[in-house]
Amino acid sequence: MKIDILTLFPEMFTGVLGSSIIGKAVQKELVSFRVVNFRDYAGNKHGQVDDTPYGGGGGMVLKPEPIFHAVESLTEANGEAAAAKPRVVLLCPQGKRYDQRLAEELAKEEHLIFICGHYEGYDERIRTHLVTDEVSIGDYVLTGGELPAMVIIDSLVRLQKGALGNEQSAVTDSYSTGLLEYPHYTRPASFRDLSVPDILLSGHHENIERWRLKESLRRTLERRPDLLERQELTKEMKKLIEEIQQEL
Ligand code: ADE
Repeated sequence: MKIDILTLFPEMFTGVLGSSIIGKAVQKELVSFRVVNFRDYAGNKHGQVDDTPYGGGGGMVLKPEPIFHAVESLTEANGEAAAAKPRVVLLCPQGKRYDQRLAEELAKEEHLIFICGHYEGYDERIRTHLVTDEVSIGDYVLTGGELPAMVIIDSLVRLQKGALGNEQSAVTDSYSTGLLEYPHYTRPASFRDLSVPDILLSGHHENIERWRLKESLRRTLERRPDLLERQELTKEMKKLIEEIQQEL
């Protein structure tokens, strides 16, 4: 997977793209990054990338030329045919809310371009004629698109085959299954009078699986009942939910 990032603050990405699972995925050549300062494409000697809005009012608006030129140069450098155009993702609070479903969709792409903006906004022609997806990471406003791009990139890299040490962990994640994850415990079995549930020490595989499913359901019911409404429940799940409700 190739990921290009357009930003005015490339230095923000250095630590994140070189560390942990993402850094290892780069070493394993599962993913490659190009971080581009679109000020380099400003085409004027002052490197001006923003300007005052037509019609007046406060704030600055990102100009179209630097961003169009940067995206075009990245796709041309790749020799991509018109038919194989990459998805161009604009980070903004008005975008579609990011979730695991969109992560799984974007993780299948071969080439993605992220545009990280600052200031008041983007010239509308960037949205209408360059961008394929506008994405928000949540209902709050950040100072720029860099942190959202990092959040999304992290979620995409860990879905690449071979990126996680344990392949199972991406499958059983909260949200991938549609349920929140069950509680985890490790040694010691007893810590300050706090003990691990007996069933996990029993070695009885089937009972443990049932307990885990029940605790996933309990947690989802308590914290995110909306996730259950979107889910098709098996007979076993319905029975476990009944048990949970009787315990209340
Ligand atoms: N830029 C500023 N706030 C944002 C958000 N919540 N999501 C994506 N991009 C943003």
